[in-house]
Amino acid sequence: MASVVIKNWDNKTWLSSQNYINSFNNFLIKNTKINSNFKILDIGCGRGKILGSLKSKLKLKYKPLGIDIVNHKDRDKRIKFKKANILNLSLRKSQKFDLIMIKQTIHLIKLSKVKKLLKSLEKILNTKGKIIIFTLDTENNEIPTFKLMKLKLNKSLIRDKEIFKIITNLYPQRIQKKFIFNVRISKKKYLEMIKNRYISTLIPFSKKQLIQGIQEIKLNYKNKLKFKDKLNCIIL
Ligand SMILES: C[S@@+](CC[C@H](N)C(=O)[O-])C[C@H]1O[C@@H](n2cnc3c(N)ncnc32)[C@H](O)[C@@H]1O
Repeated sequence: MASVVIKNWDNKTWLSSQNYINSFNNFLIKNTKINSNFKILDIGCGRGKILGSLKSKLKLKYKPLGIDIVNHKDRDKRIKFKKANILNLSLRKSQKFDLIMIKQTIHLIKLSKVKKLLKSLEKILNTKGKIIIFTLDTENNEIPTFKLMKLKLNKSLIRDKEIFKIITNLYPQRIQKKFIFNVRISKKKYLEMIKNRYISTLIPFSKKQLIQGIQEIKLNYKNKLKFKDKLNCIIL
């Protein structure tokens, strides 16, 4: 069971901007050769904007399916949605997919459950189907942080490396890519995101810790933030 509930990840942030979604979907299409016949599943889909946009862009014949533990009122209506914890869901083997995406969600799964999850997903993949996993870049991460946030983020990135090792052991043939998006955002807007605890790292902080962190960012960053949002991509 995931212990954190993330509600503001894609709530009017760069991650839900048309620019980000277009650029991400272009990356996805290029690297997985999606066509309009593809059946797609997104695990931890959030508001489902990425898949919704992909549905329109490629005129997908089948509505993609998104699964998430949170059912957002403003989720994208172009996708089918199931509110569920992926770890408790028994996946119907009769329904197979050509592409299963896990974007910035696998770090929320217990290490001991990652293998079981991937093996169960394999069973609902079509013969030529692929699983594509995105995690934050662990080496040169540029996400603006305050000190405590950085500590917590680094811990999570160490865990991501563990996950990467598990995946590499299971799938030595995996393909690795990087998705990079240039973020331009005002400090004011970014501070709103921090206040809304947009990233899982911020969820456990107390109000006081968050206020202190906001002060730190106010002092240490310019009014316009420019950084690269970098993701590791693993294709199985
Ligand atoms: C960081 S967000 C990423 C959202 C989306 N994939 C994106 O990149 O825009 C992680 C999402 O995974 C969902 N999630 C976490 N654990 C989950 C689980 N065990 N089963 C289903 N969804 C889960 C959260 O509710 C959240 O929407």
